[in-house]
Amino acid sequence: MQHMNEFDIKATEWDNSVMHRERAKVVAHEILSRLPLTKNIKALEYGAGTGLLSFNLREYLGEITMIDSSRGMVNVLNEKIRNSGSDNMKAAMINLEKEDYTAEKFNLVYTLMVLHHVSDLDRVLDRFSNMLMPGGYLALADLHSEDGSFHGEGFSGHKGFDTGRLAALLKKHGFTDIDHSDVYLIDKITADNNRKQFQVFLMTAVRK
Ligand SMILES: C[S@@+](CC[C@H](N)C(=O)[O-])C[C@H]1O[C@@H](n2cnc3c(N)ncnc32)[C@H](O)[C@@H]1O
Repeated sequence: MQHMNEFDIKATEWDNSVMHRERAKVVAHEILSRLPLTKNIKALEYGAGTGLLSFNLREYLGEITMIDSSRGMVNVLNEKIRNSGSDNMKAAMINLEKEDYTAEKFNLVYTLMVLHHVSDLDRVLDRFSNMLMPGGYLALADLHSEDGSFHGEGFSGHKGFDTGRLAALLKKHGFTDIDHSDVYLIDKITADNNRKQFQVFLMTAVRK
């Protein structure tokens, strides 16, 4: 059997979390209120997980491609697409840190709670930039800088993001009109058994 990662194991239970569902709904609402979404838009969700965010946005978009590096998540995605009868959604197992995806270009790329898991942020942002048409939109929802307690010990990803630094990185990768604000507060019992709150921001930008 292939090695299962954390997300393969969590995939079938992911949508049982009220917080996961609520977070995606709130972020979808915020994206809708900031970006002029239309049925002409071809969108990419990166690190889609079970597609909670995309399922909230699908009626406002033309086509949605959802990619994720977890086989378990992509299996759940394919089942959800089949069950929903959607003909404008598809899923694929891809990790943009390791491989390119050049099959199509998009007018919108969005992510929710994914970038802090991405080691090579520069590479992935470069790929987003190449995958977007000029004038296309980027929407990134993720954690503000935190003390590491969100994931606890042993986590090798980013402890959230400094929005100023992230904005500078986007600028470097050809984005303009960069804007952000806080959109959702995660209330969580951390591994050291403390109740803590973690703020999620939404950063939007336009591909030059
Ligand atoms: C915290 S979950 C968020 C899932 C979904 N976006 C949501 O908000 O419900 C992070 C997701 O990113 C995926 N992921 C992590 N690193 C990735 C990478 N390098 N490339 C693609 N997907 C990745 C995981 O498999 C997982 O599905």
